[in-house]
Amino acid sequence: MDGILALMLSGVVIRPARRADVPGIITLFTAVAAERDSIGTEPGFDVAQRQSRILQSVEEAASCVLVAAVEDLVVGNLGIYVQHRQSVGSLGMLVARQHRGQGIGGRLLDDSLRWARESGLHKVDLGVWPHNTAAIALYCSRGFTIEGRRRRHYRRANGELWDVVTMGLVLDTHSPGSSHPDADNL
Ligand SMILES: CC(C)(COP(=O)(O)OP(=O)(O)OC[C@H]1O[C@@H](n2cnc3c(N)ncnc32)[C@H](O)[C@@H]1OP(=O)(O)O)[C@@H](O)C(=O)NCCC(=O)NCCS
Repeated sequence: MDGILALMLSGVVIRPARRADVPGIITLFTAVAAERDSIGTEPGFDVAQRQSRILQSVEEAASCVLVAAVEDLVVGNLGIYVQHRQSVGSLGMLVARQHRGQGIGGRLLDDSLRWARESGLHKVDLGVWPHNTAAIALYCSRGFTIEGRRRRHYRRANGELWDVVTMGLVLDTHSPGSSHPDADNL
């Protein structure tokens, strides 16, 4: 079945997040954080701080915050966060476990990349755990490439040090790159 048709039939709507969605986004974060193996956030994160950061992003035009919702229930969330005066957006996303594999992540990503292009971002980047094959496959399917691997970069709550893979999607392929002759040496 066509992915968009399947989503319509399942009642999932992809749309910009509203203030009223923020508690639902936090609930989703809390559930996925408890899985401990897919996103950077782990249980015990600062809920108030996260809530005010999301609220700020929802209200400012510089960032893109989308939700996948079944009526008022948030089952997916994607944010592209743009630092002040920058044109690189950092992407993070998550879908509730029982709703994965139904095309929701793909739709969230497609809509957010449309927003990124229309907003004039020159690049979108992200970090992903090397074992997160579902996410890496999703990003690759939308043109992201692996740019590097930061080794033993993040301390997890259990004391382990995890590598992170950095991925990027260049949207501006026309501006010149560095003119330094040795720019591509490494
Ligand atoms: C990664 C994640 C967002 C994908 O969302 P999803 O709704 O399950 O993805 P979709 O159903 O839209 O699948 C889109 C594509 O992703 C890839 N994919 C999804 N699940 C996959 C899996 N289990 N194994 C391999 N590839 C997979 C495929 O390329 C798929 O394309 P297809 O539809 O042609 O098969 C979701 O698994 C998730 O929320 N995981 C936990 C949080 C997380 O890992 N966030 C990303 C942190 S970097």
